[in-house]
Parts: sequence; C-alpha cells; structure tokens
Amino acid sequence: MTDMELIPWAKPDLWGNEGKYIAEALESTWISGGPFVEKFEKDFSEYSHVRFSLATSNGTTAIHLAYLGLGLGPGDEIIVPGFAFMAAANMALNIGAQPVFADVDPDTWCVTAESIEKCITKHTKAIVPIHTYGNVCDMDSILSLGKKYGIPVIEDTAEAFTSRYKGKLAGTMGLVGTYSFQATKVITTGEGGMVTTDDEALRDRMVMHRSHGMLRKTFYWHELPGQNFRLTNLQAAMGVAQMEKLDTIISERKRVCSKYIELLSGLDFLHLQVFPTEVDALPWAVAMRLDPAAFPQGRDTVLQQMREKNIETRPGFYAASLMKHIYPDASNIPVSEEVSKQVISLPTFPTLKDDQIEYISSTLIGLKK
Ligand SMILES: Cc1ncc(COP(=O)(O)O)c(C=O)c1O
Repeated sequence: MTDMELIPWAKPDLWGNEGKYIAEALESTWISGGPFVEKFEKDFSEYSHVRFSLATSNGTTAIHLAYLGLGLGPGDEIIVPGFAFMAAANMALNIGAQPVFADVDPDTWCVTAESIEKCITKHTKAIVPIHTYGNVCDMDSILSLGKKYGIPVIEDTAEAFTSRYKGKLAGTMGLVGTYSFQATKVITTGEGGMVTTDDEALRDRMVMHRSHGMLRKTFYWHELPGQNFRLTNLQAAMGVAQMEKLDTIISERKRVCSKYIELLSGLDFLHLQVFPTEVDALPWAVAMRLDPAAFPQGRDTVLQQMREKNIETRPGFYAASLMKHIYPDASNIPVSEEVSKQVISLPTFPTLKDDQIEYISSTLIGLKK
C-alpha cells in the first residue's frame, strides 16, 4: 500500500441530506438564525433526553456560555484536567477565572473524584470533567463530590457525544453538558457546538448571554452585556442531516474502534486507552501510550515515521504544566505529563476501511525496536 494517498487522521463524512438541507436554508434566505437551528436543538434534546439544548457557534463558546450562565468570573477557580484539550482552561482564563489542574488516571486519562478533591478550595466554583477521546469520567463519584461541596459539574463532552456511562449519555449527568461539532467530531456542522441542561433558570441566563443579553420580546434591549455565540441556520441544517444518520455514524465508528482493538490490544508495548466496564465509549480518536522502552526513538519520531508511510497521526495533548507560559500555576500533575509524552492517536473516522486499519496497525507495530 505504499502508493496510496495519505490516510488522514480524521475526515468529516456526509451521509445524506446535508447538501439538500443547506440548499433549503439558503433558498429560504434564513441564513443566520432560522428553523433548522430550532430543529437541531429539538432533535438534540430528544436524542439526549434533556429539557434544553442551546446551539452555539462552537464547542469553545459552549463552555464559555456555561461559565457565563453560572455567573463565573474573576476570583473563581475552575477545576479542569491536566491532560485534555485545553478549551475549558482557556475559557476560564478568558473570563478572568483561574483554571486549577487535576491529574488524570494513567489508564483512562480522565480526571477522578480523588484528583479533583485535592484541588478544591473555598474559591472553587465549577468542576469540568472532560470525557477525553470518547471515554467517560467516573461521573457517579464526581457528581457525589460536587454535591458534597455544593460545586456545579460541567461535562465537556466535545469528544464524547453518544458515549455512555452506566447507560446514561455523556453530557447529560452534570448540571450542564457542552459539545463540539467541529469537522473531526462525531457529528459536524463545520464549526458548531451545543450546551444542554435540565435547569430552566440556567437555560434562560445562557439564552441571554448567547445573544447580547437580548430577549426576543424587546428588540435592542440589553438585559446584560452578552456575547454573540449563535449557530447559523446553514450550519444547523447540516447538523439536522447528521443527526438523521447518527445510528450509522455510531455503528461505523464502533467498527473502526473494534478493528483497532482486535489488532492492537494485548501487545505489551502498546497501552490502549482503557474504557471502564461501565463505559460504552464511542471513541472520537483511538489512542494509546507507546511503551518508551519499545519505542526508544520517542513518540514524536514515531509520528514522523507514520507520516512517511502516508498515515497522519496526532500526539497526545500537552499537559498543562508543560505550558507554563499560559498556565504558570499548573503543577503536581505527573501522570498528565507522562501520558502527554507517550500518547499517539490513530486515524479514526467512520469511513475508514478495515484494510486501512490493518495497514495502520501493522505499520505502527513495525516501528517497534
Ligand atoms: C475536549 C474539548 N473541548 C472543547 C473543544 C472546543 O471545541 P471547538 O473546536 O468546537 O471550539 C474541543 C475541540 O476540539 C475539545 O476537544
């Protein structure tokens, strides 16, 4: 397979009505807000069994909106994982709050109630477990902790839409769930996001913050100095089409994941991300730690060697403590640092073929010394 084209790390797949619905939105001239936004929110709520879904311009603004809805700001501390995509930490800084980094579990790469509890102070105003790569954090213990200290839990579900924990959908267990529909995600609208909650008062505050503090009943009256975090009708049209094909997306992503597990599990030099038995994960990216003794060339060289074989891979996220220029206070997260240096994630998307997965897996195994 050496003449083959590059196998991308991710690829947005279009399954049916995306073009049709976008054309409908265009023809209707409803290209900012419009009926597709309302339908996308309704479909999302129905699927997730939540009372309220608010579409946002992306997964970052979804987190920002949750923070604003909860009234977080300067002087507050928000606990986030030391190893994860840093949107939740960055949004904390953007509202003048302090991100406090909890270490992750060496196998699941998710934060635990134990690591979170060590970070709680009298200034802690939110806990943000991130369901990294499609795994789901141990929500029962994290929610009990939140309850014990009276701290709300915001689930960053950008990478785990449709993953389940004890049968419950990721994003629906905390006070708020946030999601991303960026091009690599489980469903995509190009850029886009969603916030879900069952709390009506919180929903109302987030509605205002999403759109300049304006309530529809009074044009140009600002209740508060809000933002513009709205999703367009064109993007929502795509979201509606993607939701229609969710079953196919899930089953094809699961096929891809199972094939990787069949080929790569049980090898003592590769440590696949561990999904606890109570988690039914829909991996956003199949990822593993490379045993440093078996790959003495180092993870970053392995990424390059894979690229030379026409396979695009990605490194793990940088642990917060490795980015002191942004997070000067990040420390005491040794597992995050170790995981960060060893993780590689492999191409993961629903139309990835079995023979491509075989090629990717055998290439990776062949790089072991
Ligand atoms: C865990 C996590 N949170 C938030 C985001 C931000 O989402 P977006 O790119 O839609 O702003 C991402 C994006 O990749 C993510 O992986």
